[in-house]
Amino acid sequence: MGLFNDRLKNSDNRTQVPVWFMRQAGRYHQHYQNIKKDSDFMTMCKNPELAKKITHGPIDEFDFDAAILFSDLLFPLEHLSMGLNYLQGPPKLEFHLNSKEDLKKLKEKTPALEFYNFQKQACQLLRESLPQHKSLLGFVGAPFTLYTYAVEGSHSGNLVTAKKGLTDGLFNGFVEMLLPNLLDEMRVQALGGADAICLFDTAAGELSLHDYKKYVIPEIKKITKTFKSEFKDKKIIYYSKHTQIPFLHALEDENIDVLGIDWRVSLSQALKELSSNYMIQGNIDPVALHMSWEELEVRWLDVWREVQESGVSPDRWICGLGHGVLQHTPEINVKKSVEFIHNNFTY
Ligand code: CP3
Repeated sequence: MGLFNDRLKNSDNRTQVPVWFMRQAGRYHQHYQNIKKDSDFMTMCKNPELAKKITHGPIDEFDFDAAILFSDLLFPLEHLSMGLNYLQGPPKLEFHLNSKEDLKKLKEKTPALEFYNFQKQACQLLRESLPQHKSLLGFVGAPFTLYTYAVEGSHSGNLVTAKKGLTDGLFNGFVEMLLPNLLDEMRVQALGGADAICLFDTAAGELSLHDYKKYVIPEIKKITKTFKSEFKDKKIIYYSKHTQIPFLHALEDENIDVLGIDWRVSLSQALKELSSNYMIQGNIDPVALHMSWEELEVRWLDVWREVQESGVSPDRWICGLGHGVLQHTPEINVKKSVEFIHNNFTY
């Protein structure tokens, strides 16, 4: 595993800060586009050989320290019979959950352990082909984020139905069906050989602190507790977007190993206040990768200065972005960033 306590050393015997990016295998990358010419997104995720090949692209070319399984967050909605396609633009569902009545339409297609077998196979292929010193990351969507997609079809806008549904039983009904299946999705990836599972909670920061504490945290804790009781050696990385430090303090989950933070959160504050409980991952703005290398380099150096001035050991930090690599990001900036981090962020 390259992200945790077996980090690589460089030729001066200094430890390198490891780095990986969310969406490191994606549309900005020619390798991905070449595969996409002959295939659709769903097949790219569900064919284990293709998923393996796509996952490898940014590892082989840019030397990231962790590979993230190529898949998508929304498959649990397909598994619950909501229909899912990626044919034109953003993902689409056949129906949304507008009220508790709609929960009756949710049915498990096949047992989850069978449904997610494509992810297990892809992880197994990856574990065989990846160099031992690279971490393999699986991922699932966190309950509130998946719920938001199931209700609203995205996490933009005022989320009126989704937020109201927190209080009228819609959220509870949904997570009751979701949780056992989501845990199976995590089990499948862990059994396939993933070293860590990311829980992506992209929509969490749309909530007030009150609602985050009352509705989101208890569900996350159920998941992490069950998973860790079965897989003690596997790590859990929890990423949430738009969540401020008080949200992260409120989490207090001893079963989470790493907190991914977005670029709005002060990295030095997160390190100072939260790194005794969690490793911290992040957090430059992905838009910085669109800037000239000179500008981008300044931002990387700022991040490193923040880590050093925090007084916290870089052992507690994983370098990354505050969210995923954006479409049209110049590949050269991704390549140079990883090189720069490996050469300069050492301790
Ligand atoms: O490299 C990696 O990080 C692994 C692959 C990965 C994808 N999606 C591939 C993908 C991961 C980890 C995700 C997670 C994901 N998917 C999230 C959580 C993290 C985040 O970015 O917020 C969410 C909310 C989704 C749902 C989803 N899938 C959306 C909203 C979209 C369309 C919009 C967009 O930004 O791409 C997708 C499609 C998708 N997932 C693509 C990729 C490479 C693009 C497909 C294409 O058009 O080629």
